Amino acid sequence: MERVLSMFERADPFSTWWPTIAALLVGLVITVRTIMSGQRCPNDNQIKEQIVVVTGGNSGMGFEIAKALAARGGRIILACRNLTAGERAAAIIKRELGCRTPLDPNDSSSANPAERYFVEVRQLDLCSLSSVQQFAAQLMSEFERIDVLVNNAGMVFGNTQVPTGDGFEQHLQVNYLAPLLLTQLLLPHLERSEQGRIIFTSAHAHQAAKMDFDDPLNVGSWAVKFHARDAFAHSKLALVLATRWLAKELTGTTVTVNCCTPGLVRGTRHLRHSPLMSAFCVKVITYPWMWLFMKNAYEGAQTAIRLATDPQLKQVSGEYFNRQGGVHNGQDTATATATAAAARKLIYVPHAQSPGWGSLTGDLGSNVYLHLV
Ligand SMILES: NC(=O)c1ccc[n+]([C@@H]2O[C@H](COP(=O)([O-])OP(=O)(O)OC[C@H]3O[C@@H](n4cnc5c(N)ncnc54)[C@H](OP(=O)(O)O)[C@@H]3O)[C@@H](O)[C@H]2O)c1
Repeated sequence: MERVLSMFERADPFSTWWPTIAALLVGLVITVRTIMSGQRCPNDNQIKEQIVVVTGGNSGMGFEIAKALAARGGRIILACRNLTAGERAAAIIKRELGCRTPLDPNDSSSANPAERYFVEVRQLDLCSLSSVQQFAAQLMSEFERIDVLVNNAGMVFGNTQVPTGDGFEQHLQVNYLAPLLLTQLLLPHLERSEQGRIIFTSAHAHQAAKMDFDDPLNVGSWAVKFHARDAFAHSKLALVLATRWLAKELTGTTVTVNCCTPGLVRGTRHLRHSPLMSAFCVKVITYPWMWLFMKNAYEGAQTAIRLATDPQLKQVSGEYFNRQGGVHNGQDTATATATAAAARKLIYVPHAQSPGWGSLTGDLGSNVYLHLV
């Protein structure tokens, strides 16, 4: 031990470049991490008693969004396809928030601080449009209004050749059609809120999307050859366009609609179906790079948290928020080419019957304005 101590005492850091190189490397890593982790939500505005629905709230960013909004006083409904996973997430959120809450000696109403947080779970499977209908009906019978709807649930790298039970391509339904249907169904309740907010989670990948504006749902002949990556990008572009159109439709109401991209986020289950990421050695090799260049789920959730809580965004609608949390200028190439008519077609969904789509004949139902044109 003494030998080691005397070695350090005698060491001259300026006799070699290594300490400087090491310090520069550490500085570089910290700078990259700081930049890549993005901005935090710039306010800590409370949303006391606001009723917030978070789809896919049992894991990843949905969990972080739900936890942050519960901590600000929101009444959270986790909409999950797996009730057990949802109940587990709700219990964790309540326990973690409860642990942070100091015990009030004068408050005899609740011995357990975790019970002060309202986090409940309801079943919602976006692969099933009837599940969406049931979920919306249940919610509307239980709650008098909804203040915030965070359409966070989504998937990537599903099998594009296996349609949902409703007959739609999986990415299209889970990422776009079902969230849009849910939004439409809950609109009357969102309109009862003093200021209803709808948030869609899109992705940077929307910029790489191909969309035939005569067939915006891409149910035409070439769509059956879709790679999952293309289907994902397409569904996220559809969200961006639909956000703009919905915002126009909602002009004059108290409801705003915006979409956001979280950036590249690690540590969630988003890539669970990725053929590449299922290989153990790839995970090991990529982990340091993912740690360096990608956000964690908490960091990825910040833009959606801001959209749900920022008082300065009360009047902002139809915008796309990028991963830095700011308003996008709307000039990216993919979305700039979209006309209002194309966006309209996306909302007033044409019947998914087309020669190339074979047996896929999705039907969204007709009691909302996702109807046939
Ligand atoms: N991670 C990224 O880098 C990234 C980048 C851009 C955009 N996004 C988007 O961010 C959102 C959140 O992703 P994440 O990274 O947090 O991934 P995640 O951990 O996989 O979370 C996705 C959530 O969606 C739920 N979900 C999936 N399919 C569903 C269905 N059919 N019905 C109901 N819920 C369903 C999942 O439920 P289960 O647990 O039951 O599967 C899960 O709770 C997604 O919309 C995703 O597309 C992520």
